[in-house]
Amino acid sequence: MAPSAPDLEARVRDALSAVVDPEIRRPLTELNMIRSVTVGEAPVTGDRTAGAHVTVGVDLTIAGCPMKSTLVRDVTAATEHVDGVGSVDVELGVMTPEQRKALRSQLRGGAGDPVIPFAQPGSLTKVFAVASGKGGVGKSSVTANLAAAMAADGLSVGVLDADIYGFSIPRMLGVDRQPTRVDSMLLPPVAHGIKVVSIGMFVPAGQPVVWRGPMLHRALEQFLADVFWGDLDVLLLDLPPGTGDIAISVAQLLPGSEILVVTTPQVAAAEVAERAGSVATQTSQGVVGVVENMSWLVQPDGSRLELFGAGGGASVASRLTETVGKDVPLLGQVPLDVAVREGGDDGTPVVLAAPDSPGAQVLRDVARRLAGRERGLAGRQLGVTPVG
Ligand SMILES: Nc1ncnc2c1ncn2[C@@H]1O[C@H](COP(=O)(O)OP(=O)(O)O)[C@@H](O)[C@H]1O
Ligand SMILES: [Mg+2]
Repeated sequence: MAPSAPDLEARVRDALSAVVDPEIRRPLTELNMIRSVTVGEAPVTGDRTAGAHVTVGVDLTIAGCPMKSTLVRDVTAATEHVDGVGSVDVELGVMTPEQRKALRSQLRGGAGDPVIPFAQPGSLTKVFAVASGKGGVGKSSVTANLAAAMAADGLSVGVLDADIYGFSIPRMLGVDRQPTRVDSMLLPPVAHGIKVVSIGMFVPAGQPVVWRGPMLHRALEQFLADVFWGDLDVLLLDLPPGTGDIAISVAQLLPGSEILVVTTPQVAAAEVAERAGSVATQTSQGVVGVVENMSWLVQPDGSRLELFGAGGGASVASRLTETVGKDVPLLGQVPLDVAVREGGDDGTPVVLAAPDSPGAQVLRDVARRLAGRERGLAGRQLGVTPVG
């Protein structure tokens, strides 16, 4: 027998509770985005009752929602799956300003004014600020790959690209979309499961960036407070190279953040990297460790060509250990690897595109070491393979 209309409506609503908003990443039902579920008459063909026609009313956060087609597709699929449903129509509407206000305050946990969630007491999000002495050492490549590896391991991850002069995270993660603005709240695009916001998304293409310290501080504050990050396990910040204004703003806005230093093996690079790391002592941040990148190139005969010399990472790690008075480990040495560069150019980080390539193996290992420090991760399967 065909289910009664109220029964079918309840089951459709139940099915829709599994549909997640692609940006906010919460069920549509929880976000009050399902305006209505209307069950029509089931047409009788011959002696068989076909499924009922169901119309689902969906309220978008904003009219021009870029994820509109994804939403329609997901709602249709979920509804069609319900036993007793024959056909589906999705009717799109837009939230009223009051509904949007309610949504904003719901997402902010009832707080009225935006606050930086990661700076609140009791925040469980680990914040790593990725720093380097100079540009071109692979800071952004390391950031993108650590984020992708952690997300692939099941963590909820965000990346904030704060490198105002050399933002490259959107390309490396394959993001070409702006965040969706819901009044004063920004919903970040999601790529490879990572929420991504870049200062470059707010700068008109091809224009030089001439922001000064106070403006940078305000921009960073806004990205941290106005972006809906949700409950993150890890937030990675790609800092501009050196020890400039942004690094100091990060320390002020996110006192609990820890610095991850990236350097090449070269002595000159290591010296400036050490300076970037030792900013931490002035700002009383922790230094979580050092990643040496471009450590060597494996030759066809299997030998290692140390293109940029050797020892930079180890030397930064041991000198920072002395400066900050706590163990600063060398977390890994990432070899030069064509796949690392290709992954960055293609928008699919090497840890996903070629997870067994030499560079990816080290980056995945560093990601696990950083994630393993998480309090909330006790007992979590980290997928570590024993060496045979
Ligand atoms: N281990 C590596 N092997 C090969 N190419 C790399 C590696 N690390 C970085 N690259 C490449 O070097 C360039 C600079 O890296 P990038 O991450 O943009 O550095 P930064 O953010 O420090 O300026 C990029 O083209 C990147 O693809
Ligand atoms: Mg960079």
